[in-house]
Amino acid sequence: MSKHQVITGKKSLHKLQQMKSDRQKICMLTAYDYTMAKLIDQAGIDMILVGDSAANVMAGHKTTLPITVEQMIYHASSVVRAVEHAYVVVDMPFGSYQISTEEAVRSAIRLIKETGADAVKLEGGDSYTQEAIARIIAAGIPVVAHLGLRPQSINSLGGYGLQGKSNEEAGQLLREAKELEALGCSFLVLEKIPQNLAKNVSQELNIPTIGIGAGADTDGQVLVLQDMLGLDKGFSPKFLRRFADLSSIIQEAVGDYMEAVQTKDFPSQGESY
Ligand code: KIV
Repeated sequence: MSKHQVITGKKSLHKLQQMKSDRQKICMLTAYDYTMAKLIDQAGIDMILVGDSAANVMAGHKTTLPITVEQMIYHASSVVRAVEHAYVVVDMPFGSYQISTEEAVRSAIRLIKETGADAVKLEGGDSYTQEAIARIIAAGIPVVAHLGLRPQSINSLGGYGLQGKSNEEAGQLLREAKELEALGCSFLVLEKIPQNLAKNVSQELNIPTIGIGAGADTDGQVLVLQDMLGLDKGFSPKFLRRFADLSSIIQEAVGDYMEAVQTKDFPSQGESY
């Protein structure tokens, strides 16, 4: 267990939403596999996002677009098997909710039924997405909304830059955020927007906001686990803080292992049958 946290039972939707009124920050990290999910759950993390960033982090794709519902089910069910306490959110991948509302509900039901996750997350706040979200919520599935930088729309956004910069964009984001709350969304992820806009949205909404690259005033924060652990030295956006340097630790351990094998120091008599 982490020195920072006392773990008490399963984190419910109600308890997590209550954290906003209690002015307690919500801590969320991504996980895509059993081993990492178990570690961060035991460390006391509040929420785990099985992000479609698995396409980048686990599979080496340049965007999140290629990952499928089946692959998300594989990742999310591995995570759910490890978790005792955290609230688990699974991303709806690109193509699983854009075709029709019916397809969106079918995908959301599969993702919940076949993984045991607690909620789904989908990107966007336009009228089509809102229609899909309303039907998913009506099916009894909690929804985490996601505004600001929406990596699934990378081809129309044209890059991974800051969103909501102009007054017009900021106004639209705030409007959509309020509409998503009115539809019944449980949380709102805000990605890569100016701190003031994120603060304003967080103050205007009753549901918790969870920021990534959105400054300190959101109700919680989320980071990609492999990024904050320092596993990818090539990825250094301004918003990323590395809380460990695991790439050096892993590479050092691999070097030590190779040396021990090459010098016949490993395995020793005590490590043999
Ligand atoms: O897929 C993901 O990891 C995400 C976070 C960046 C919020 O959506």
